[in-house]
Amino acid sequence: MHEILEQLEVRREQARLGGGQKRIDAQHGKGKLTARERLDVLLDEGSFEEYDMYKTHRCTDFGMQETSVPGDGVVTGWGTINGRPTYVFSQDFTVFGGSLSETHAEKICKIMDLAVQNGAPLIGLNDSGGARIQEGVASLGGYAEVFWRNVQASGVIPQISVILGPCAGGAVYSPAMTDFIFMVKDTSYMFVTGPDVVKTVTNEIVTAEELGGASTHTKKSSVADGAFENDVDTLLEVRRMFDFLPLSNREAPPLLPTRDAPDRVEMALDTIVPDNPNKPYDMHEVILKIADEGAFFEVQKDHAGNILVGFIRLNGSTIGVVANQPMVLAGCLDIDSSKKAGRFVRFCDAFNIPLLTLVDVPGFLPGTSQEFGGIIKHGAKLLFAFAEATVPKVTVITRKAYGGAYDVMSSKHIRADVNYAWPTAQIAVMGAKGATEILYRSELGDPAKIEARTREYEDRFANPFVAAQRGFIDEVIQPHSTRRRVLRAFEMLKGKQADQPKRKHDNIPL
Ligand code: HXC
Repeated sequence: MHEILEQLEVRREQARLGGGQKRIDAQHGKGKLTARERLDVLLDEGSFEEYDMYKTHRCTDFGMQETSVPGDGVVTGWGTINGRPTYVFSQDFTVFGGSLSETHAEKICKIMDLAVQNGAPLIGLNDSGGARIQEGVASLGGYAEVFWRNVQASGVIPQISVILGPCAGGAVYSPAMTDFIFMVKDTSYMFVTGPDVVKTVTNEIVTAEELGGASTHTKKSSVADGAFENDVDTLLEVRRMFDFLPLSNREAPPLLPTRDAPDRVEMALDTIVPDNPNKPYDMHEVILKIADEGAFFEVQKDHAGNILVGFIRLNGSTIGVVANQPMVLAGCLDIDSSKKAGRFVRFCDAFNIPLLTLVDVPGFLPGTSQEFGGIIKHGAKLLFAFAEATVPKVTVITRKAYGGAYDVMSSKHIRADVNYAWPTAQIAVMGAKGATEILYRSELGDPAKIEARTREYEDRFANPFVAAQRGFIDEVIQPHSTRRRVLRAFEMLKGKQADQPKRKHDNIPL
């Protein structure tokens, strides 16, 4: 009997070695952790339950029957993060480069099905050379089974992808359909086709880092939502974000007790908006002063800096924040910022996360590059996302809310629930100078007259009271009391119920 028990341990030990010590050393040599070491960092100590440890591939081509490794290049199961469950898979680059075989896919699919059935997030740790070349179409079928499940799970459970090595070919499309992608600087890459194929087909010479490194995907392509220094930092940040998220769309987001007073006042907010309307200020500061304990988990912070998105807590509850950033492009909306914020709003709405919108927006960015790039369709994404979101929505206009961008940024008209403005707010079709120059074109030659007209326009429109008189703004609030006012608004909205018309699904302008 004792011997049988020992045999189990031997088998387990063998499986834990993956592709062998030499390849584990090579993995460490690149500054990367192994698949199991990564799970140790991600999950609470001792919480991991592994499944399918002995599963092997069924391929017999190319002499593959001689080279089967228990577990087949992916470690799967579930564990907890700060006591809350999550399903995980972690690809083992030491086994056939983490490439995806039919059985490797079956293992991932098994835990995806459990995640959806039991209502807990899926976190995928990706480190893979793509489709297992020796398996051909069986591997492609495996990928498609994973893709199909990503789509079924979308909006039902949060799905997070962590890219911890090369991810080529099919290995990038499953992450692309998940909610968030995090990368590691200098050791992770994502591309549909690698540098060699690029050179053959297009004659371009490009390094893996330039083509699909963390910098490329967090700054240029916006495929990834964040990048961190190494495996450990990245996995710890994933733990941090996990704490903001509900386990599924059937649940409310978690409540984290806080000692931060709900009625904390912040006098600094009274002077944060400069007298000169063309001078910027940092919207981060406004967010940090409103949030519990000044904590903001920012998403996509290296891309489209003219809009800020991320998670804070108010009195312990998760809130999604969307905020114009006057420090970048004066906070205007453009293609990139509309796409970035639209996607974030839809994530929050899908997972019952209320939305706080902070507005200081001079309008949409004009120009041929924006029009040729389709700003009409892309700007509409954000408008559509805010309008269809039924979670509690609270908006605070801190300064400018001009033109169409006023409507888009969670205005009362597209069904925000509570709309506040600071006394410094200016809600108008456009800024005073632009408006005067259009209305009084014939007087442009007379600077004194134009100045008087501009002042007249400012007196009439550069304030929040015209909108407040119509009920478009529920209350003009003191900036220093913003935390208390916003927090109470969300408390009031806890019982909100809002239904959408019956339909198969909407048709957001993709
Ligand atoms: C089988 C693979 C593999 C693969 C790597 N290996 N990729 N085995 N199928 N796709 C194996 C290697 O043979 C090697 O085995 C080990 O993994 C490590 O690979 P190296 O090349 O030595 O490592 P490195 O130099 O770090 O390069 C990593 C890599 C490179 C960039 C990922 O291996 C690579 O380019 N692989 C091929 C990528 C690719 O084109 N995949 C197919 C994409 S098509 P040993 O035994 O020596 O340790 C695809 C279609 C799906 O995915 C489409 C669905 C929509």
